Amino acid sequence: MLVVDFGAQYAQLIARRVREARVYSEIVPHSMPVAEMLAKNPAAIILSGGPSSVYEPGAPSLDPTLFDNDVPVFGICYGFQAMAKALGGEVAHTGSREYGRTLLTAQGGTLLRELPEGLPVWMSHGDSVAVAPAGFAVTASSPGAPVAAFEDLTAKRAGVQFHPEVAHTEQGQRMLERFLYDIAGLAPTWTPGNIIDDQVAEIRRQVGDKQVICGLSGGVDSAVAAALVHKAIGDQLTCVFVDHGLLRAGEAEQVEKDYVAATGIRLKVVDAADVFLGHLAGVTDPEQKRKIIGREFIRTFEAAARELDAERHIEFLVQGTLYPDVVESGGGTGTANIKSHHNVGGLPDDLQFALIEPLRTLFKDEVRALGNELGLPEEMVQRHPFPGPGLAIRIIGAVDPDRLEILRAADLIAREELTASGLDRDVWQFPVVLLADVRSVGVQGDGRTYGHPVVLRPVSSEDAMTADWSRLPYDVIAKISTRITNEVREVNRVVLDVTSKPPGTIEWE
Ligand code: XMP
Repeated sequence: MLVVDFGAQYAQLIARRVREARVYSEIVPHSMPVAEMLAKNPAAIILSGGPSSVYEPGAPSLDPTLFDNDVPVFGICYGFQAMAKALGGEVAHTGSREYGRTLLTAQGGTLLRELPEGLPVWMSHGDSVAVAPAGFAVTASSPGAPVAAFEDLTAKRAGVQFHPEVAHTEQGQRMLERFLYDIAGLAPTWTPGNIIDDQVAEIRRQVGDKQVICGLSGGVDSAVAAALVHKAIGDQLTCVFVDHGLLRAGEAEQVEKDYVAATGIRLKVVDAADVFLGHLAGVTDPEQKRKIIGREFIRTFEAAARELDAERHIEFLVQGTLYPDVVESGGGTGTANIKSHHNVGGLPDDLQFALIEPLRTLFKDEVRALGNELGLPEEMVQRHPFPGPGLAIRIIGAVDPDRLEILRAADLIAREELTASGLDRDVWQFPVVLLADVRSVGVQGDGRTYGHPVVLRPVSSEDAMTADWSRLPYDVIAKISTRITNEVREVNRVVLDVTSKPPGTIEWE
């Protein structure tokens, strides 16, 4: 099904919730012509939230020809108002606003069937639908929205003024499911097993009897992408793991041993630590570090591919690109370059390979579900994301082997204690950052110390686009701090980063 993005933050969330209901969803921009949307043959369409009113200057318009066919449509918030207007209802230009938690008075119908009276929902709107279009039954109201939900079961169309996709709307997921299953008549068939079957068939069709290469980073995405391709074409796949010397303790071994044991994939390991560290010597600028790593990664990888090519001619490259990467690249809508992520924009224009991106349509949690289904080791599937440039962007200052050792030791302690506290799953990611050019005075034993601080940066997030600092229990933080200052000689101070994203990013560089 399609989610038409009217420009607010909600479209990704809606797409995720629809997928949680086991229905495949894709996001399309509202500027896409209706004919193009329909050419995708959607089983249903959801119109997302957007500006707070259809009367807002510059508010995107909805092409009413969308309703000239019988595709089921669900309008949410802005999409609800736009739908009401397009179908001949009335949107009152009230100027009054309703933001945040509101109690809904449901009046039966299919969408809100059997839901409790006085249901808390999340609203964010200026104007309201005053009169529902002909054929629609009004099924709910709220203090600020006389028409807060409507439905036309014959035409398979419905809409709500509130946001069912956000966690603050209790029962929101049930409402979305009611639309998908009961109004649009869809079935929950989009399961990890089915996704794997579809992808395996597609990869086989794309690759035929050609040879394929895949760069493994040690992260979840490339591990799952490779396992999926391996399932499809077996021995035609060779993986290359570039050890750039910027990995955390135990990571290279995990890829070399556990992963190969679990999958039986042919793996070529390239130890390129000296090359990377040589190029990074003395470099302190974050973007320069990133560019050097991106460039050297591609060079090392290409050299490995050329070597392999002598034995087998390689035509395809597997990439673990995820759906948020695709959405955020936005087909050239020109978002600001905050950081040069190494695998987007890092590929040369004259790339020798055709790409295979089997995770292109998936979110991170879906990739993990696929990893489980494919039988990958749990520790690998549940690993927190780790950036391609590795510890280089967690050392603030120049990178060298000694500093890397200090950070590895501190990072390992933080990871061990988080795991011991049973909180791994509550935290999206837990960077530990070494402020290598900062020193502070401390006292240990009877002596003065003059050591480096490390920063703990545990964050919670759904997709890394936004994040909040994790409220880890103080005793866990205390244990980590004590162990780091006791066990890592060069570190005499541990600080906690309590910045959300925005304004901070997750990584410090
Ligand atoms: P930021 O720091 O931008 O990070 O909030 C968002 C997420 O992306 C990860 N990250 C990267 N991942 N290559 C990657 O593969 C990169 O260059 C890169 N930079 C940041 C970061 O760890 C977080 O999960």
